[in-house]
Amino acid sequence: MDSFQFHFFTASLFCFFSFIVSQQPYAGSTTADCAVTHRSTGNLGYFCNTPNRNCHSFLTFRSRSPFNSVSSIATLLGSDPSELSRVNSVNASATFPPDKLVLVPTTCSCSGQFFQSNVSFTTRTGDSYFVIANETLQGLSTCQSLISQNPNVSVTSIKGGERILVPLRCACPTKNQTDMGFNYLLSYLVVFGDTVFDIAQIFESFGADMGIILDANELQGSSFVNPFTTLLIPLKTEPSSTGMKERNSSPPPPPSLPTSPSPASKRTWVYILVAVVGGVVLAAVIGAVVFFACVRKRKKKTEHTPIEIDSFESTEKTSEKKLDGDSSSITLDSISSVVQSVKAYTFKELQDATDNFSSTHLIKGSVYHGTINGDSAAIKKMNGDVSKQINLLNKTNHTNLIRLSGVCFEEGHWYLVFEYAAKGVLSDWIDSNGSNNDRFLTWTQRIQIAVDVATGLNYLHSFTNPPHVHKDLKMDNILLDDDFRGKISNFSLARSAGWEEGEFTLTMHIVGTRGYMAPEYLENGLVSTKLDVYSFGILIIEMLTGKEVSELHRKENLQLTDLLEKVLDQKDGKEYLNHLMDPSLEGNFPTELAVLVMNIAKLCMNKDPSQRPSMDDIVQSLCRILSSSLSWELPNTSV
Ligand SMILES: *[C@@H]1O[C@H](CO)[C@@H](O)[C@H](O)[C@H]1NC(C)=O
Ligand SMILES: *[C@@H]1O[C@H](CO)[C@@H](O)[C@H](O)[C@H]1NC(C)=O
Ligand SMILES: *[C@@H]1O[C@H](CO)[C@@H](O)[C@H](O)[C@H]1NC(C)=O
Ligand SMILES: *[C@@H]1O[C@H](CO)[C@@H](O)[C@H](O)[C@H]1NC(C)=O
Ligand SMILES: *[C@@H]1O[C@H](CO)[C@@H](O)[C@H](O)[C@H]1NC(C)=O
Repeated sequence: MDSFQFHFFTASLFCFFSFIVSQQPYAGSTTADCAVTHRSTGNLGYFCNTPNRNCHSFLTFRSRSPFNSVSSIATLLGSDPSELSRVNSVNASATFPPDKLVLVPTTCSCSGQFFQSNVSFTTRTGDSYFVIANETLQGLSTCQSLISQNPNVSVTSIKGGERILVPLRCACPTKNQTDMGFNYLLSYLVVFGDTVFDIAQIFESFGADMGIILDANELQGSSFVNPFTTLLIPLKTEPSSTGMKERNSSPPPPPSLPTSPSPASKRTWVYILVAVVGGVVLAAVIGAVVFFACVRKRKKKTEHTPIEIDSFESTEKTSEKKLDGDSSSITLDSISSVVQSVKAYTFKELQDATDNFSSTHLIKGSVYHGTINGDSAAIKKMNGDVSKQINLLNKTNHTNLIRLSGVCFEEGHWYLVFEYAAKGVLSDWIDSNGSNNDRFLTWTQRIQIAVDVATGLNYLHSFTNPPHVHKDLKMDNILLDDDFRGKISNFSLARSAGWEEGEFTLTMHIVGTRGYMAPEYLENGLVSTKLDVYSFGILIIEMLTGKEVSELHRKENLQLTDLLEKVLDQKDGKEYLNHLMDPSLEGNFPTELAVLVMNIAKLCMNKDPSQRPSMDDIVQSLCRILSSSLSWELPNTSV
């Protein structure tokens, strides 16, 4: 387990790293816009910042026809073929399989302001500086540097057959880096799906680690790296293909299939953790992009966007409120005309099913258990306009959303007939006060339920048309079936989220459950799917700690965000986490995975809604955690 813990420690560094020394700025996506030269972001090259004006350095390249042999790659990148074949442990005549990571030794020198390795390249018809930089060279050079260093070849009309100077991106170690034992800088070409953590793993045996990589590229722990850009990797020893650990890019096993915990699976575990952390960071970034894109689009049409007035109180009263633009008074007929497939039960049927709504059939509040045609059902008596809810439930068909099987209208009351969830409400199963000793959920059951809830929300956010927000996600609204699989219930506050995911509307009446409500909703009445993401963060904290967040807040005397900071602290976080976790788990949980779940909670609770991950990303991360949990559980249950 030692190596696992080490990797995990590095993984936490990835999230919470602080700087030691800084070196070259990471150019990132600025390389994509050839018209813009960002000197400060280094898209013209890495700055000469050391007394060493010449050094031996390395590039990486992915073999891709026609550049897939030792000789073609050496020629393209101006490398010595015998050196290239030596470090890659192949024959001088070898060809590489497609997409193989090839190490390219080169000499880097300071040419004016920038470190570079000069090679000459003959253009082909149809080339542009961007195509040469991004496609042929995969990002080892940038169009900005090509343009600035080839003043005689026009930007707009590369004819083909012209010789141009190609400055490849390389750099020499700073004094600080050599003092720390790093003798080489390798320019690594980022590929899709890479995280800094993955990349550090590849070069681990040459002394690279995530901290030093982040530092060398002036990156923060949470930074996202773009494909077709270079990242500098400080190395202590010369790299060779034999010591490289290439990322296993195969997808994780489906969550429902327990994987056998062989010793080899520890390594896969590390990759799973990496994928999870990386995925969540990626999610946050994508979420941000989508959100801002939408906000901008939305702003353009604000004059057409009325401020919607949404009052739960008013829907409580039977009223002749407009329904989605259609004025309709609330009768069963009007409902059935909208909702063809909802079964209309007679009141007699429901009376028979519940022994005339006797107290022995009462589950809780106004919900009764009944047997209709031999099937168990939950019958909920409701007042007011339930048409929206019925409409939504009728449109949804998902195992993680409670299913509405029919309705009945009698004497001003609605009766909604739902599928029966045999194990009842989640909150009854999570209670650290020990009053329910016979009611207990294992770690893996809890993660399974979290996956179920996330999957249900993802469906609601992305697969209903229009997308919907639940708006009242909490443990009391999660039901469990016979197999302890979670189902989201109580859609009384659910409403459409707008036209596209991430778009938001405003509401004047704040409804929901205190403690679970996102700050932007409380403060500004902003409604988006990210409200549910926030509540989901709270939900998973409660599921893990067995305490309501208000109780946690009171007991620990800490704001939730500070509490999460403390849990995720790389030094004492685990100890604190163990103190927080639900005592009824009796320490029987994988700490590393619990930290990851807490990290998801933290991302969900970002104050800025656009920075929260989407439910889709959360589902993926949690599925990986679930599959790791199943592996973890196998040896544990036999103890
Ligand atoms: C080198 O490290 C020292 C501290 O160890 C720091 O003050 C200095 O700025 C660093 N130099 C460079 C070039 O980053
Ligand atoms: C190198 O080439 C020789 C023949 O030229 C071949 O027999 C040998 O298997 C090759 N080795 C590798 C590692 O490709
Ligand atoms: C690389 O090319 C640049 C631009 O032409 C030149 O200034 C520099 O001296 C060259 N460097 C080497 C090592 O040849
Ligand atoms: C760079 O090239 C790759 C293919 O090699 C392509 O997938 C990618 O979209 C290109 N980048 C941009 C910004 O066009
Ligand atoms: C560009 O052209 C001018 C004259 O046309 C020539 O003097 C100069 O050397 C050329 N520069 C390069 C980098 O080829």
